[in-house]
Amino acid sequence: AEPVLGTSLFRQCRPVALQKNKTEDCCLPEPEREPILFKFEERKKMLVRRPAHELANDVEYVNKYNLAYKRMKELPRDDPRGFLRQWHVHCAFCVEAFLSRYLNGTPTPYPLQLHYSWTFLPWHRMMLYYHERILGSLINDPEFTLPFWNWDNQLDAGAAQMPQMFVPYNPPNPAIDNFYLYAGAIRDQNHYPPRVMTLNFKPLEDKAGIIPTPEETRDANLCMVWNMVVNKVSAQEYLGVKYNTSADFSAVSHPNASAESGGSEILHNTAHEWVGNLNNPAFPDNEDMGVFTYSGRDPLFYSHHGNVDRLWDVWQTLPDGVTVDGTRTRKEFDDVDFLETEFTFFDENKDMVRVKVKDTLSNAKLGIMYQDMSEADSLWINHKP
Ligand code: C2O
Repeated sequence: AEPVLGTSLFRQCRPVALQKNKTEDCCLPEPEREPILFKFEERKKMLVRRPAHELANDVEYVNKYNLAYKRMKELPRDDPRGFLRQWHVHCAFCVEAFLSRYLNGTPTPYPLQLHYSWTFLPWHRMMLYYHERILGSLINDPEFTLPFWNWDNQLDAGAAQMPQMFVPYNPPNPAIDNFYLYAGAIRDQNHYPPRVMTLNFKPLEDKAGIIPTPEETRDANLCMVWNMVVNKVSAQEYLGVKYNTSADFSAVSHPNASAESGGSEILHNTAHEWVGNLNNPAFPDNEDMGVFTYSGRDPLFYSHHGNVDRLWDVWQTLPDGVTVDGTRTRKEFDDVDFLETEFTFFDENKDMVRVKVKDTLSNAKLGIMYQDMSEADSLWINHKP
């Protein structure tokens, strides 16, 4: 069997390359103490993440969330809980900054890249888990939950727009302060509300500058989600291929990305591109959301990934499928290389925690659930393309 990824990464980190010979140093501070091992926490009740579009006018929630980001942004540069370091976590693990090791200690030939393979969903789930705990601890609310951007929802007006709480209120709502949920984030402002996101919008908008009608958008979105979630039955189709330690992901445009990514990741790319600045010469790296290096600098990123994570839960409940090659079963990988793969995150106490993929496979075990959206989900689940 192929060895699995290791974790002793932090002393071997390098700046990552961008367009125009620019680099970005996303290397993380050294942990102050020995890394600790992940443990499931006994929780008295499940934490429920709610959809951003339903929270837009929840004054208490939005103000509290804003305050958490304010405090996160004010932490000193070397505090791993600080906003800078939170986006560096994503940048470092996802843009080939770290050299990685097999669990037996031997270095892997190429640096770590957590997209384009079966590591995509587990890693981002735990990124959210710790990001949320840090935000909660900064406002002394252990029950704080991140909102999710419910962009697949074609039932509720506003769900598939950039969520109101992440953009300036218009007209302003004097009771709500959401400054830290958008300040400094670089986005394509042509895609601000009331524009509804068309998943897979690029062919239309890029080639012809055409803005699809609401009906076209709705149909395109239901088709896209059906195709990328319902129609991806095996774990490989949905999560992505086995991590290939001998692939050089840092090649400028990774040639096999679409063959290796699972449906979950292909679907998720569209919202990144919708929010980021594509085709804007002032932002050659498609900042912020249009490039993995800078995505974590936009607070909306974490909400976007909330929905990606939620859809994994939904995918697990969908029925098996049959194709010409036989029956495919909707169950997770049981490959030991997958289960034993290990990542590290900083927690709310600034401890570095070592987490194995096998501990990430159930949100219920992590004490987290998503508000039931089954009415909206059923539109794409039952969509016949
Ligand atoms: Cu690590 Cu949505 O990307």
